[in-house]
Amino acid sequence: MINPLDLYAKIESLIGFDAQYETLYQTYLGLLKPLHVKRILDVGCGNGKFLVHLKNEQLSACGIDRSAAMIERARALGVEASTQELEAFEEASFECVVAIADVLNYIAPAQIDSFLEAVVRVLPKEGYFICDVNTLYGFEGVAEGVMCHDTEDQFLCVDATFEHNELLTKIVLFEKEGDLYHKNEGSITQYFHPLSFFKKLGAFKLCSTKPVTLFGDEPDKTILILQKR
Ligand SMILES: C[S@@+](CC[C@H](N)C(=O)[O-])C[C@H]1O[C@@H](n2cnc3c(N)ncnc32)[C@H](O)[C@@H]1O
Repeated sequence: MINPLDLYAKIESLIGFDAQYETLYQTYLGLLKPLHVKRILDVGCGNGKFLVHLKNEQLSACGIDRSAAMIERARALGVEASTQELEAFEEASFECVVAIADVLNYIAPAQIDSFLEAVVRVLPKEGYFICDVNTLYGFEGVAEGVMCHDTEDQFLCVDATFEHNELLTKIVLFEKEGDLYHKNEGSITQYFHPLSFFKKLGAFKLCSTKPVTLFGDEPDKTILILQKR
């Protein structure tokens, strides 16, 4: 069975969030510039487009992602990216870590403390972690629902339900192979993390938050600027 993150990589271009993600990247760049950080790690870098922005700004950056398919795509854009885990990097080797567009939502509440500990380790004191989390509206008002996409050689159906602070997204993709269709299916769970959680972290101070409206009529994401204590 296909790794669900690689399945997401397959359907990413069919979902067509490019314009919204570009707006999100510009918002991140606007937040990063005044911090004057030079060495940046993009966790969950996906297809590498934000790394290209960082490269164009002459910043030193690399990305990691658990999807090999995404990393292949990122490398094709000429940026430094790998499937390494955070643990593979030296202590304090980045001035800033970013996790853009749902990456934190992919991490279950039971795993988030160890994820944040791994981020803390690669930052120096006062280093920054900038990330975003979906608002409740982002889950209930935007992500929940069914979408289908039909082209000559692909048929995609995405069915997302939000219950008990978890979004379960079931994905079914048929791809034409010769005269036959090959079926790929899988599911991804995303988790709602309330802002109150980030306000009481021991290792990070929450410096500021920025609501972002990408898809709906009210903020569907909040960007968090955290600084290592
Ligand atoms: C919605 S995509 C966003 C990708 C990218 N940041 C962008 O802006 O297009 C979320 C990405 O997070 C990756 N991911 C999820 N959990 C991860 C983890 N614990 N470590 C690294 N990558 C992760 C997924 O493979 C996926 O590429």
